[in-house]
Amino acid sequence: MVKKMSTDKLDISLEQELNDLKEQGRAKSPERVIEKYIPAKGESGPRYKLAGSDSEFIRLNSNSYLSLSNNPQLLSAADEATNKFGVGPGAVRFIDGTFIHHINLEKRVADFVGKPGAKIFNSAYTSNCGLALAISNKKTHWIGDQLNHNSIIRAMRFCNIPRENKGIYKHNDMEDLAKCLDKVNPGIERVVVIFDGIFSMRGDYAPIDKISAICRKYDSKFKDGVITIVDDSHGIGAYGDLGRGTPDYCNALPDIIVGTFGKAFGVNGGFAAASKTVVESIRQKADTYIYTNPLSVADCAAAQKALDICDSDQGLDLLRNLKLRTAQFRQGLENLGRESIPGPHPVVPLMVRDTQKTHDLVKYLFENGVLVVGLTFPVVPKGDETIRFQINACHTVADIDYVIELLEKFK
Ligand SMILES: Cc1ncc(COP(=O)(O)O)c(C=O)c1O
Repeated sequence: MVKKMSTDKLDISLEQELNDLKEQGRAKSPERVIEKYIPAKGESGPRYKLAGSDSEFIRLNSNSYLSLSNNPQLLSAADEATNKFGVGPGAVRFIDGTFIHHINLEKRVADFVGKPGAKIFNSAYTSNCGLALAISNKKTHWIGDQLNHNSIIRAMRFCNIPRENKGIYKHNDMEDLAKCLDKVNPGIERVVVIFDGIFSMRGDYAPIDKISAICRKYDSKFKDGVITIVDDSHGIGAYGDLGRGTPDYCNALPDIIVGTFGKAFGVNGGFAAASKTVVESIRQKADTYIYTNPLSVADCAAAQKALDICDSDQGLDLLRNLKLRTAQFRQGLENLGRESIPGPHPVVPLMVRDTQKTHDLVKYLFENGVLVVGLTFPVVPKGDETIRFQINACHTVADIDYVIELLEKFK
């Protein structure tokens, strides 16, 4: 008889670690479960029903900036691909798990961001990790913005470089970036400078034109140069005149672009777009690309449809509405004398600057049918407590007015 194993002892230790997280205020709250999507009707945008509640909620915490997740064209593209090719790929890419949908989406997204090629991953998270493995060697030095997303921080650890081969510059501080470049050890052959396009908790952007100019100055010092990478997960589709993202907004194209299909494009999955050689290196060296099943054909077909929509008048209308509703919300906050971080991005932070008040306001909004994210100490430093509002193209004038009125009434 097989001896029964148990995790009893492990569970005791893990319980202690989970309690520690709770005590430090770092534990995540229980997950709310969406049970129903209610399409837009008249003056009101879509609503959601949550398990255990009879209320209908407006989501102001969704990254689906262009509101494409429920778009009928995306749904039929996904259905059609599934009906013809099945729900799953059956294997990883290099063992005949590559379908025409993967190839088409790679071409399409490379074209969209203006690069010769692209590789798609299951997520932007795994794109960063895989890309880091593909382009890093022992003589690589990585430099990143202090507020970079967790996936970039993890990617910099993933490629196993020693501590001295890493630099972090103060958020968007170009002098500090130059200092980090000055500190790179002799013997380093390749420097990678990586940053979020849009910083997801603040809605501000990386000044890519300035970053590129500084990196160019140092490029000739290193055998393989200084390579710039933007992770534009929150920018692509939602930012810039044509929704091409932060490079579009800054009029500067970094060497490599990472992005997600899971935010403005409303689907799932990520990509890295670059030269054909970088793309082939990903295919050969990026474990998070090689040893895992790819996206389903449904995801690929829907993502490709999302890109087509972004390139059409319909997409420009969605982008226009997103910008109008964002401006309406930002103006509403300003009229109330509330503090935010200025800028046109649909991530709109409300600086509350007090942990208890932030909790109270998030609770009050929830009780009035509005879902938002509160960021409190110790996740952010004391005094930086914030509520993050995210505007989506499906929000109506009445939806935004309603939220602003709620904020006005909150004492
Ligand atoms: C900069 C950045 N990169 C990556 C991600 C993760 O994207 P995905 O859900 O596609 O892994 C996020 C999402 O929060 C992000 O803000």
